[in-house]
Amino acid sequence: MRSSASLRRLASETRLHPAELVLPMFVREGRESVDITSMPGVVQHSIDGARRAAAEAAAAGIGGVMLFGVPDVRDAVGSGATDPRGILNVATRAIADEVGDALVVQTDLCLDEFTDHGHCGVLALDGSVDNDATLERYNEMALIQAASGSRLLGLSGMMDGQVASVRAALDGSGFQDTAVLAYSAKYASAFYGPFREAVQSTLTGDRRSYQLDPANRREGVREALLDIEQGADVVMVKPAGSYLDVLAEVAAVSDVPVWAYQVSGEYAMIEAAAAQGWIDRRRSIEESVLSIRRAGADAVLTYWAVELAAWLTEGNQK
Ligand code: PBG
Repeated sequence: MRSSASLRRLASETRLHPAELVLPMFVREGRESVDITSMPGVVQHSIDGARRAAAEAAAAGIGGVMLFGVPDVRDAVGSGATDPRGILNVATRAIADEVGDALVVQTDLCLDEFTDHGHCGVLALDGSVDNDATLERYNEMALIQAASGSRLLGLSGMMDGQVASVRAALDGSGFQDTAVLAYSAKYASAFYGPFREAVQSTLTGDRRSYQLDPANRREGVREALLDIEQGADVVMVKPAGSYLDVLAEVAAVSDVPVWAYQVSGEYAMIEAAAAQGWIDRRRSIEESVLSIRRAGADAVLTYWAVELAAWLTEGNQK
């Protein structure tokens, strides 16, 4: 069954399609786009640059974009996140207007890009993250993001009860149609390293009091089930490549779509090795994303979404 290209094609169990790829995008304040050193080929876009990149993404036929804001000013409660003139909300409106329904405009719903301490929530007096006070902020973010044109809110903060809380806030304000993507099994991972540069994170310390312990598979599955119970429309496993076992297990039990996030460190490792000539760049990218799909992801967030979509389209024309 492997002896010819046509047999291999017929016997292939997993296929990639542009529609199931989501491109994470960073948008900064100011008129210039800025390179991200640890993620060659990825930039912090200006709003205009982001509009163009989103239009390109739509033309490539990918499924959506996930937007992250990089504000100039941060404070203890992440005020920029709920300011209608805050970078993420302005960018969301601009991009939603640009692409219409050609792709799904999604937003990161988390405070870490907006807080001066860099944590995903607000802090209690003792410096710990205050889970329930953070939920109030997430509810406010949800409403402003939905009003700005986001169709799918990416809850990446790992607060307990965040899905139920945001779902109720949306439903109570006329946003019943805004969907919720729960970063359910999000691990406290070293592979987010380059992302911290990408959003100029000010975090000192780590997120181990709210993100999952990389040692725990069962807990990842449990978090996904809890989020489904609370009304998540999609659950996610993150990072992807080192957590394919968790992904497969969540995919086996979930009755909602399961996505995976191929994170910044996964991107950086392949780019770095390929730049040295140590691995074949294109084949490594294709294999890494295919493997995430094979493990059970219905869609994949990847910084290669647009480039990969172009390869897939070109392959289909052959
Ligand atoms: C939190 C968030 C992070 C990433 C996506 N959303 C950072 C973190 O949890 O530390 C990481 C994504 C990546 O590494 O590509 N807003």
